Amino acid sequence: MHCIKKITDDLVWVGANDRRLAMFEGVYSVPEGVSYNAYLLLDEKIVLFDTVDKAVRQRFMENLAHVLGEKKIDYLIVQHMEPDHSASIQELAEKYPDMKIVCNEKTFAFIQQFYDFDIASRVMLVKENDTLNSGRHTLQFVMAPMVHWPEVMVTYDATDKILFSADAFGSFGALNGAIFADEVDFAKDYMDETRRYYANIVGKYGTQAGALLQKASALDIEMICPLHGFVWRGNIKSIVEKYMLWTSYEPEEYGVLIAYASVYGNTENAAELLASKLRERGAKTAMFDVSVTPASEIVSAAFRWSHLVFASTTYNAGIFVTMEALLSDLAAHNIQNRTVALIENGSWTATSGALMREKLEQCKDITLIEHTISVKSSLKANQLAEIDAMADALIATLPAAALKKSHSAAQSVAAPAETPAGIAPASMTKLPYGLFVLTAKDGEKDNGCIINTAAQVTDSPVQISVTVNKANYTCGMIAKTGAFNLSVLSERVPFAIFKKFGFSSGKDVDKFADVKYQNRTANGIRYLPDYTNCVISAKVEQTIDCGSHLLFIAAVTQAFVLSEDRSVTYQYYFDHIKPKPAPPKDSVKGFVCKICGYVHEGDTLPPDIICPLCKHGAIDFEPL
Ligand code: FEO
Repeated sequence: MHCIKKITDDLVWVGANDRRLAMFEGVYSVPEGVSYNAYLLLDEKIVLFDTVDKAVRQRFMENLAHVLGEKKIDYLIVQHMEPDHSASIQELAEKYPDMKIVCNEKTFAFIQQFYDFDIASRVMLVKENDTLNSGRHTLQFVMAPMVHWPEVMVTYDATDKILFSADAFGSFGALNGAIFADEVDFAKDYMDETRRYYANIVGKYGTQAGALLQKASALDIEMICPLHGFVWRGNIKSIVEKYMLWTSYEPEEYGVLIAYASVYGNTENAAELLASKLRERGAKTAMFDVSVTPASEIVSAAFRWSHLVFASTTYNAGIFVTMEALLSDLAAHNIQNRTVALIENGSWTATSGALMREKLEQCKDITLIEHTISVKSSLKANQLAEIDAMADALIATLPAAALKKSHSAAQSVAAPAETPAGIAPASMTKLPYGLFVLTAKDGEKDNGCIINTAAQVTDSPVQISVTVNKANYTCGMIAKTGAFNLSVLSERVPFAIFKKFGFSSGKDVDKFADVKYQNRTANGIRYLPDYTNCVISAKVEQTIDCGSHLLFIAAVTQAFVLSEDRSVTYQYYFDHIKPKPAPPKDSVKGFVCKICGYVHEGDTLPPDIICPLCKHGAIDFEPL
């Protein structure tokens, strides 16, 4: 039976999941399974993006048959010729004799290497920036060699702003009924498998993957459709930021990964002691027994952490076998730009330290801590000072901000000696806030703005309150008309919505000019159907003048839920949506608005400043 997923009005996921595969590419365990994604675009011409692995061919063919009905595929775009995405090319070519195969020259050669059918008569060769028009959609081809094979290309749908990204932005893990990354708790449940996929499949080719990011930065992308894992829509910033770190071999987190190989537990003991000393000094640590944890997980962790410690017993006069394999794997995946320390063990001649050093010296930009701790069978008390010294040397190269005070039982969290007086500016930021688009209508004029203060006041009758800065045009409209809508934004909301509704004034621009949907509630006021999980209409019953702001208390007249997506919080906005500001030029002195990035130049910040872009006050500015 078919099992498909609708991506947009005319784009359908026709891929399949495999949870029986033990080893992806014969080498990477996939305990959470894997998805093979293929996408069918139902335009005037029908376009299929890639096929699937032979293991899930039947489901794929059922999916295609269901979506196509009597129609035929006009174009098969082959973005990546690796057989987990190309296994059905020949079968499709035979079933749809008029189907053109769209690919580049390298792909063309690979197809002939892998398969035996007449491809020459049906191939349509494309190169960088060539386009294909399928009717409503214009598809642009962008070459992405070595992400992960030499023939790889990606496709940009300029009409719907979708990047079909081949292996980039992919992940291990079956989709489990979802299709969009925002439908799941991605950071908690899928980020590790996404990093493991990147590090092991694409990690060696960081430069080439970085070049693809560079090309993609020139495109206006609202959705990413990879060949494995979830589709990204709306807020794609979180995954793009991870890719910027991974492709440049920058660590994601400051902390120490300790990987050890121990036969009788004595090397492990030295590693444990070091981890304990590092924790006491406030560093984050992660530990792996290389004989137990698959190498792909440790390679992935090495892409995450800034500092690496390898502890290995000497075995057959060399490095212990699983540690030797791990170090070779790390070098093969181009690990670089890390601080590294070594511990060796040996009962007669300890050689593993020098041999590990030799291997690591072949990697780029590795800073080795000079002293290798050498254990003779088991660590003795007189060597504890060496463990302390190694912990100190590692801590000295970690930024102070990455070190936390230990909360072990031996230390209690001290209450402040005196209760601080006055109003600390940061205290207001500890209150939890949501983010909302507040809309109003005055005559023919529709308008809206971003607010962060909305709450239920009473349950019976249902009343809510909203607070709006008087400088906002919407505020005056509500004061005049006595009605508004509140669109509760979800975590899918992209930064563009904050720019549109938060950084310009309705006096000057029509903020709804390019909003795709024209929806209105019963009160005639527009709302934002995209990126919103709930809409509340309300009629003002009381207006309280709070100085800079008006507080409206209003009776709810209509309310409906649009999705189960989580509501976005102010904290989430800062952590995942707002772009990081460019580093200020040394010559510029001033204060930057943390909300929108506006810079007020000068030595002092006027206490009554209102940001001209987003209307926030002095509390939201910080020195450059
Ligand atoms: Fe799933 Fe490089 O392919």
